[in-house]
Amino acid sequence: MNLVVVGAQWGDEGKGKMVDYLADDADVVVRFSGGANAGHTIKVGERTFALHLIPAGIISPGKTVVLGNGMVIDPASMFEELAGIAAQGIDWRGRVVVSDRAHLVLPGYKSEDRAIDERRARPIGTTGRGIGVAYGRKASRDGVRVADLWDPVVWNSLSPSDQEWLEPFKEKLGEMKVNLASYMMGLKDKKVLLEGAQGALLDLDHGTYPYVSSGISTTPGAALGAALGPRKIDKCLGVFKAYQTRVGNGPFPTEMAGSDEELAHELRELGHEYGVTTGRPRRIGYLDLVALRYSGWINSLDGFILSHLNLYDGFENIGICTAYELDGEEIDFFPSCAADLERIKPIIKTFPGWEGKVADARSWEEIPEGAKDVVKFIEEFTGVPVHGYSVGPLRSETFMKEMPWTAS
Ligand code: IMP
Repeated sequence: MNLVVVGAQWGDEGKGKMVDYLADDADVVVRFSGGANAGHTIKVGERTFALHLIPAGIISPGKTVVLGNGMVIDPASMFEELAGIAAQGIDWRGRVVVSDRAHLVLPGYKSEDRAIDERRARPIGTTGRGIGVAYGRKASRDGVRVADLWDPVVWNSLSPSDQEWLEPFKEKLGEMKVNLASYMMGLKDKKVLLEGAQGALLDLDHGTYPYVSSGISTTPGAALGAALGPRKIDKCLGVFKAYQTRVGNGPFPTEMAGSDEELAHELRELGHEYGVTTGRPRRIGYLDLVALRYSGWINSLDGFILSHLNLYDGFENIGICTAYELDGEEIDFFPSCAADLERIKPIIKTFPGWEGKVADARSWEEIPEGAKDVVKFIEEFTGVPVHGYSVGPLRSETFMKEMPWTAS
């Protein structure tokens, strides 16, 4: 069975933690998009892992993890990350597989990425990891893939300094590389977890263009970036937070500003909303159901996983956006142009707070009644049921209402 997990908002929804949780029952975890721009934090007991390139499944003992062809890989970052994981007691050798069609991020790409963003009239606020440059070269057919390191024509076309930089990684990458389509064919009867990066609203096609990343962060990217066909995807889950965050520039219709800044500050501190990759404070906003319904559609989600609802424990009330006002008119869809999204005024519905704590719940039945009402409203509005919950940073603070490993 092939199960996809993506971020349903602008990333940082708690995907890494959910992948780690679901990986317990998976045979293999495949990451299908993005690069070292991603940041997944996973807490297991006393240990905290900050992953950027390596699929979150690496923390689960004995699992094989795959870096798919939809990724762009900086080998220096990858081996540095693996060394860090090893230092925390995780034996990764023989468990990390890399698609030979994945593109490489070469040394000059990072500074080029930052320089391009500085020159932009509307800077995107890139993480500066060379991601846009690598995907750009891929699209213009000037990229360098893992397999190309053994192709004399491509190798000889590289600059001497790039060759010198790549040389030490060649042997190790040679042991890890696979023809991913053949590899995936061999997993027909296995449980494969397909891990997305970033979030639906940062997707190159469906996100808030041009304020997006350069990979495919929606579920169709799983079929493409993990060498499967679309009909081989059995289930799609999307993780979302009970509020909304964004790192970097770009429109954010429900951003808490002005008199709401205090609330934004409170949620940022309660939720430790600082970027794992860059340390930047995340922008905070109200949960946006117009965007979430859009996300449910473009990802064809079977179910949501709701995280961070516990942050609202003890609040008098919580606000959720249920419609937009654009130039005096009420609209119920997610506009395509950044300029329109910038002008939107969110229409916020207020829900009463609840007695009891979502943080203490370990099953749907244990969620306080008022919080259940909020969940039911979200499900009805988006047409997507909530299949699971993350109510704290620990693996033990996670539970599913629906079984993840049964095809819908
Ligand atoms: P890039 O992918 O580094 O070019 O960054 C493009 C935009 O996507 C910037 O606004 C980044 O802050 C944002 N971004 C990239 N990766 C992530 C992520 O994993 N979480 C949240 N935002 C991200």
